Amino acid sequence: MDVRGAVAVVTGASSGIGAATALRLHEAGARLVLHGRDGDRLAALAERTGGVAVRADFAEPGAVEAAAAEITRAGRIDVLVNNAGLGYAGPVSGMSGADVRRLLSVNLAAPVELTRALLPDLLDRPRAAVVFVTSIAGRAGVAGESVYSATKAGVDVFAESLRLELAGTGVRVGVVVPGVVDTEFFARRGRPYQRRSPRPVPAGKVADAVLEAITAERAEQYVPRWLRLPIAVRATAPSVYRALSARFGGSS
Ligand SMILES: NC(=O)c1ccc[n+]([C@@H]2O[C@H](COP(=O)([O-])OP(=O)(O)OC[C@H]3O[C@@H](n4cnc5c(N)ncnc54)[C@H](OP(=O)(O)O)[C@@H]3O)[C@@H](O)[C@H]2O)c1
Repeated sequence: MDVRGAVAVVTGASSGIGAATALRLHEAGARLVLHGRDGDRLAALAERTGGVAVRADFAEPGAVEAAAAEITRAGRIDVLVNNAGLGYAGPVSGMSGADVRRLLSVNLAAPVELTRALLPDLLDRPRAAVVFVTSIAGRAGVAGESVYSATKAGVDVFAESLRLELAGTGVRVGVVVPGVVDTEFFARRGRPYQRRSPRPVPAGKVADAVLEAITAERAEQYVPRWLRLPIAVRATAPSVYRALSARFGGSS
């Protein structure tokens, strides 16, 4: 679909991949609704892009519903990019119940709830798009990131099901599956990225893939593209995959 003049909602637009995506969409001629928690960053991005800022902490009960109401009050919507999310570093045995609930709420429940709430408006448009920023962790599994991986796998299969459910409508569904991206994600989760490979890619690369998911209506994109290979091995030769990941796949 053409994003010129389209209204795009980007969650987690106050940082990293979401901020880069908002700027790409702005450059491509979209109008923006920018979600995040950090009011100062959102205000700066809103000023730069002419977008509307919506603040909400998706870990708080009722926050997604309230944000959806604010977004729909602001006007029509053509694109929803579900990007907001957070990580956690460490084994599940060391997590508190609150840690688990926060990841489930922000990474899984929020994109599902927001999509559900905004879908009637998206279905009203002749052409619309929903894009989910998932993670390679949701396709491969990563030691020390089991709950994070589960949230991303949940979003992934929600997107796949939604794509089938919306066949025949004007709403296209895409997932962008990043590997390691150079953002504040790792510092915020409390442990810097510690592997030598894969090397972190710039957030702009993921933003390019999100834009392409919308404009070229792509169902799935890995960033970087070669990440599809280990996932293909996992699907076709699971025992080989498990042997290789036991040898090379540690925590990130
Ligand atoms: N970086 C990577 O290597 C990587 C790899 C694969 C997938 N991803 C996914 O990419 C997405 C964006 O991450 P990023 O790398 O850009 O990280 P980031 O720079 O830390 O940005 C995360 C964004 O999510 C928002 N967010 C975090 N907790 C929130 C909450 N409780 N309620 C509402 N919003 C919240 C943040 O808002 P505030 O800043 O305003 O708090 C921020 O805008 C996430 O879904 C992440 O899982 C990242």
